[in-house]
Amino acid sequence: MSKSVAIITGASQGIGRATAVRLSRDFSALVLVARNRANLEQTAEAVKAGGAEALIIDADMARPEAAQTVVDQAMAAFGRIDALLNIAGAVPQIDLFEMTDTQWEAGLALKLHGARRLTIAAWPALKASKGSVVLMSGNSALFPKAPYAAVGTINAAIVALAKAFSDRGIADGVQVNSVLPGPVMTGRRRSYLQHWAPLHEMTVEEATSRFPKEAGIARYGEPEEIAELMAFLVSPARAG
Ligand SMILES: NC(=O)c1ccc[n+]([C@@H]2O[C@H](COP(=O)([O-])OP(=O)(O)OC[C@H]3O[C@@H](n4cnc5c(N)ncnc54)[C@H](OP(=O)(O)O)[C@@H]3O)[C@@H](O)[C@H]2O)c1
Repeated sequence: MSKSVAIITGASQGIGRATAVRLSRDFSALVLVARNRANLEQTAEAVKAGGAEALIIDADMARPEAAQTVVDQAMAAFGRIDALLNIAGAVPQIDLFEMTDTQWEAGLALKLHGARRLTIAAWPALKASKGSVVLMSGNSALFPKAPYAAVGTINAAIVALAKAFSDRGIADGVQVNSVLPGPVMTGRRRSYLQHWAPLHEMTVEEATSRFPKEAGIARYGEPEEIAELMAFLVSPARAG
């Protein structure tokens, strides 16, 4: 396998961790980014077991200086970047009419600006490798209505951002995609159900089994299913 390097944000748990584990089969090195170092170390163990090197960077990607730090450390360690997967996200799942300016700013600072800054910082390396970028959105981008109106609005901005990057990517040889999953069973989904259950006068167990019907889905997605899609989109075999 020729050397190939991917950066994954949100790699400490959920969809980001599942993506790191899946990509360890296809890439020679992974850069694992999130804030919780202990959780990142667990991901790194699984990545090494999958056959790839792992570099842990514990960084708050909402901070403006974090993007360049991540790219500098990745380049210092491996000398190239072939794929960037912007998965970190923590937009509060709060009603549009209740969300405060501070909560909006925190949600945008990580999910929109964190991904935007990191993509721009990594772009020269991605241009050199003819690499690929994924920006994580969500299917609430398509119909941003309650109870996901605020999250959906930010997810819609991610889709627009990905489209804007992809236009530049045509000239620069960088492939850009956004991914819009429906409800996936992760820590984020579980905390949402804990919030949703009392609003509907249910236990969390009842809410967990009733929510798919309310949301119009047959079942929850699993992080590994999204990881498989990610692997397809950024596969080194598809490069060039
Ligand atoms: N689960 C779903 O149903 C669903 C559906 C559609 C889209 N999505 C999107 O998919 C992405 C992952 O969701 P998930 O369900 O896997 O959520 P999760 O389990 O809560 O994971 C979120 C990840 O983001 C990281 N993160 C949060 N704040 C950060 C910060 N300031 N700087 C760096 N990393 C940060 C977390 O790590 P640390 O806490 O260690 O920093 C964690 O690794 C999110 O963007 C989410 O909006 C999820």
